[in-house]
Amino acid sequence: MSTFEVIIYEKKDEIGYVTLNRPHALNAYNIQMRDELYQVLAAIRDDPDVRVVIFKGAGERAFCAGADLTEFLTAPSPVIARQVRWERDVWGLFLSITKPLIAALHGYVLGSGVEIALCCDIRVASEDAQFGTPEMGLGIIPAAGGSQTLPRVVGIAPALDILLTGRWIKAEEARRLKLVNQVVARGDLLPTAERLANKIKLYDLKAISYAKQAINRGLDLNLEQGLELEANLGSRLLASRNLG
Ligand code: COA
Repeated sequence: MSTFEVIIYEKKDEIGYVTLNRPHALNAYNIQMRDELYQVLAAIRDDPDVRVVIFKGAGERAFCAGADLTEFLTAPSPVIARQVRWERDVWGLFLSITKPLIAALHGYVLGSGVEIALCCDIRVASEDAQFGTPEMGLGIIPAAGGSQTLPRVVGIAPALDILLTGRWIKAEEARRLKLVNQVVARGDLLPTAERLANKIKLYDLKAISYAKQAINRGLDLNLEQGLELEANLGSRLLASRNLG
């Protein structure tokens, strides 16, 4: 069990559970959540007992309603904000984790809520989930990698449509756009995520992590480089078995 305040971190049967826990504010992402998430992500990365992780939101109404608007643009100065980001790059850390990450999404999934989901590998949504990127209306651009992760997941045309118009998307359209992998009844959300986690955790952790790296890193390479990456990871995997 964790001792954090706005995130609950639990471990059960080799599955890590990260719950965004500010239900009174629809789990809006604030500075404290950023700091706690950074610690939790480092623990996930380093803990050999955690093989797969599920991210979810506390309460009935939201996974996460985006950045906390009461802290909006309150960073002391761009210089300090940049320094904090350099020292504590939550999103870089999130995307560098090679373990499989599953997002269980319900209710409002807005702004950084979408971006947290996009840092995960598999996204399951309940029928009541609604997605949106309100950044344009606030005069900002996504700050948690969304301008890069969204087009990589849904393609450039839907990403531009979603980001530039700020229109909201219901669960079924999110599934059609491949923003989420599947949509289930609200009561089936966590059980579905757990079924996936329980299946994945049985596989060889190194093979899973190399497959994830081959796909994610390969997307930024040309085909020839991508095939080379795949071959390298494949031989490293075999070599580690022969040594072990
Ligand atoms: N930051 C801080 N607090 C937030 C929040 C956010 N992003 N989103 C919701 N909350 C708080 C509300 O202030 C409210 O607190 P209160 O009960 O103390 O007044 C509580 O969460 C419930 O939200 P409320 O607005 O009353 O619910 P609603 O059903 O009427 O509307 C939303 C839900 C999501 C449509 C609305 O809260 C909203 O638009 N939130 C902001 C979304 C946003 O722009 N996020 C930033 C993305 S970059």
